[in-house]
Amino acid sequence: MKTEVVKLSQIKTNAANPRQIKDDKFTKLVNSILVFPKMLEIRPIVVDNTFVALGGNMRFRALAYIADMTIEDIKENLAGIRDFNKKTTAEQEALVNYWQLWIDKPTATIIKAAELSDEEKKEFIIKDNVGFGEWDYDLLANDWDAEDLNDWGLDVWQDDYSSEDGSNENSKPAGAPLIDRFVIPPFSILDTRKGYWQKRKTEWRELIGDMGESRNDTLIQSPEIKYKDLYQRTRQHRESLGIGFGEYLEKYVPDEVKEKEAAKILSQGVSLLDPVMAEIVCRWFGLENCKSFDCFAGDSVFGYVSAYLGNEFTGIELREEQVKLNSERVAGMSARYIQDDGQNVANHIEAGSQDLLFSCPPYFDLEKYSDLENDASNQDSYEEFIVIVENAFKNAISCLKDERFAVIVVGDVRDKKTGFYYNFIDDVKRIFKANGVYLYNEIILIETGASTALRASRYMESRKVAKMHQNILVFYKGNPKNIKQSFKKIEYASEDLELFRVDSGNEPEGN
Ligand SMILES: C[S@@+](CC[C@H](N)C(=O)[O-])C[C@H]1O[C@@H](n2cnc3c(N)ncnc32)[C@H](O)[C@@H]1O
Repeated sequence: MKTEVVKLSQIKTNAANPRQIKDDKFTKLVNSILVFPKMLEIRPIVVDNTFVALGGNMRFRALAYIADMTIEDIKENLAGIRDFNKKTTAEQEALVNYWQLWIDKPTATIIKAAELSDEEKKEFIIKDNVGFGEWDYDLLANDWDAEDLNDWGLDVWQDDYSSEDGSNENSKPAGAPLIDRFVIPPFSILDTRKGYWQKRKTEWRELIGDMGESRNDTLIQSPEIKYKDLYQRTRQHRESLGIGFGEYLEKYVPDEVKEKEAAKILSQGVSLLDPVMAEIVCRWFGLENCKSFDCFAGDSVFGYVSAYLGNEFTGIELREEQVKLNSERVAGMSARYIQDDGQNVANHIEAGSQDLLFSCPPYFDLEKYSDLENDASNQDSYEEFIVIVENAFKNAISCLKDERFAVIVVGDVRDKKTGFYYNFIDDVKRIFKANGVYLYNEIILIETGASTALRASRYMESRKVAKMHQNILVFYKGNPKNIKQSFKKIEYASEDLELFRVDSGNEPEGN
């Protein structure tokens, strides 16, 4: 079959064409043709023997639209197209001349599919428009410019369109925006400062109840956390005296000093897990009504969120008071906390029984949680700390089913003596790899940190940049080729994403 150039007026639109084009896409198509008319020769319009367009109806409609434009309109349109502005003056002039000549005698390159039966024509119309392939988003992101792709009509980067205050109701683009489908746009950077994130966090906080600032007071019941600075400062003194921190507080620290120290921690706030992060971990990497667990549980946020979303959660936590507090928080929900060393996780959870491992281990000595011997945050050296983390994760991996995700939140820490980073993140990757579980996503979580700006100028004196992120490492235990079978496509109806559902059946008692 060979192509021919015919008068545009000879071609007729196919009234029975089931494909539609929306206004913004149509504008993009017109612009795309205006700036790159050669494309039409390479992809001719397919017509039947009566010149009804079977393939390329949209291109034909765009050409008919251009044919009605004046050369002034065309010039104006071209001037607003990025690809046109990238061209040299000579190329721009040649393009304007091309369209000047074309609108005097509009033509189109066609190819005739004259010998098709009516049935075959119907089949062709559909098959011509079905895209069997899938975009390789990594490749697109690496080798193409996002703005170009958008100009060319590809719906890849539906960016965050919500305003900083989280109000996005009136500005939703057509189609299904990423934020509606995935709660948060699923990019490798998660920005907790965004309006949509903060708004959802507030919703979670209201739901969970007293989890905000006032809860710090209850959370920091452990003296090691309540008087964190003091605990670290007095370590040597206590060792020389051979007494624990409790006794030290009682005998050596006056009440007014205690008060001052406690106030310091309250104003800094104890790190509470971000509930929105917990939610997306469950939604993106868990399964519906699945079994999730954590071998360094910490506060009750993950357990609460996980259970609220319908999962059965088990958390192992070393500190008794934290376990008590958490258990009260999740009473009546499908979440339980066990007081033990995370290294013993396999004593409490059956091998290969869990669907999602989530954990945020201590970041060595950044925040000391207790004086307990096995507290990972309370080790004399980074090497001893890593041994605990390694044992706990190795055993946790054995509790995870095959073809499931493990999501570990980590942040690097500096050696207090040298100022160098320990490279904790790489160590966690190494531990998982050594246990046959490989890194599948690395996500950077950007955090607000009101004090970051204050710290930044002081840090810069020694050329340290203020850290305002954590890393979310997503590992996969299994063959990623099976992910599409094991994890169904994420498609939430807006009701599914409502946090305040009346019929959830997951509300904890007394909440
Ligand atoms: C970083 S916190 C947990 C983080 C928590 N997801 C959060 O952001 O609050 C780490 C927790 O691990 C606990 N922990 C420390 N060593 C442990 C061990 N050997 N076994 C179990 N839990 C341990 C600490 O008591 C602390 O609550």
